[in-house]
Amino acid sequence: MDSDRITSPNSIELDSGEVGLRPMRLQDYIGQESIKANLDVFIKAARQRGEPLDHVLLSGPPGLGKTTLAVIIAKEMSSNIHITSGPAIERPGDLAGILTNLQPGDVLFIDEIHRLSRAVEEVLYPGMEDYCLDIVLDKGPAARSIRLQINPFTLVGATTRAGAVSAPLRDRFGVINRLEFYTLQELQLIVTRSAGILGIAIDPSGAEEIARRSRGTPRIANRLLRRIRDFAQVEGKGVIDLAIAQDALQRLEIDAIGLDSSDRRLLLTIAEKFDGGPVGVETLAAAISEETTTIEDVYEPYLLQLGFINRTPRGRVVTGAAYQHLGVQPLGQGELWEDL
Ligand SMILES: Nc1ncnc2c1ncn2[C@@H]1O[C@H](COP(=O)(O)OP(=O)(O)OP(=O)(O)O)[C@@H](O)[C@H]1O
Ligand SMILES: [Mg+2]
Repeated sequence: MDSDRITSPNSIELDSGEVGLRPMRLQDYIGQESIKANLDVFIKAARQRGEPLDHVLLSGPPGLGKTTLAVIIAKEMSSNIHITSGPAIERPGDLAGILTNLQPGDVLFIDEIHRLSRAVEEVLYPGMEDYCLDIVLDKGPAARSIRLQINPFTLVGATTRAGAVSAPLRDRFGVINRLEFYTLQELQLIVTRSAGILGIAIDPSGAEEIARRSRGTPRIANRLLRRIRDFAQVEGKGVIDLAIAQDALQRLEIDAIGLDSSDRRLLLTIAEKFDGGPVGVETLAAAISEETTTIEDVYEPYLLQLGFINRTPRGRVVTGAAYQHLGVQPLGQGELWEDL
């Protein structure tokens, strides 16, 4: 499964090392500068007015810091945060229970918000708009609904698939932010900061090498750092320098730009099995035994960003840059491999 990969941006539940590395204040959150600057203003304004912050939607690939930002928002608002997720809220009554328990100004964080069911979303709308719940009493002709006031709160929603959030739900967020992959410099800062927290010495070239191979993703940077720390501790002198980092990354099968064997397999499958594409994502998923959502949410964002694949109406194609990186020759005009 995907989470076995060391470069998997997905969080592993018991990945305890991540806890201490999570920045807790906006000023410690590295990168995403314009999002941070805007949030800083919105938070200050809401605090001055003594109101809860407007609802915030955060989207972007896994491991870019959505949950971290939600926790920071609550902290900066001096509010309590309640954390749940779309799939965890099964019935409308579950959400009603959560909403009625919120204290004034609390932050409700719903991860994977695109996975809320329609019926649950319906309960959320009046909650977000008017801080109230419509409760239906009785059934059939006697049915009537009453409005129940709930405490003002801030909803922070996170999603890896902005496109899958329904339009009525999206429209009820006052602040909509899309997190971007981090730059090399930002990741280098994150690695250096994390090394400090973990108490491992690292030199700038070591930090840069880890940053370069982290696929623009802080969670991957931190995970690589922890593994490389092991090599530095057991086989090195306890310092992460360029040589230790390069050696460890090679042994972890992570190439010069951060791709691992799963990424290479995906690219090679399109290149060789499907003659470079286009290949439909379902066909591709079957060929490499992965879920289509894993391909779309986890593998593809970074490969798209690198310009190694393109999404066309007929399916995925690999680009010249990918052939060059893989060191294979393009096979001329291919057949079409569209999903049936
Ligand atoms: N801006 C940042 N500065 C420093 N560290 C960061 C930053 N963003 C994320 N991190 C680190 O990366 C880890 C992963 O971030 P986080 O759990 O917030 O990602 P996410 O976007 O919620 O991912 P998912 O979609 O999988 O839930 C955090 O534990 C934190 O250590
Ligand atoms: Mg998260």
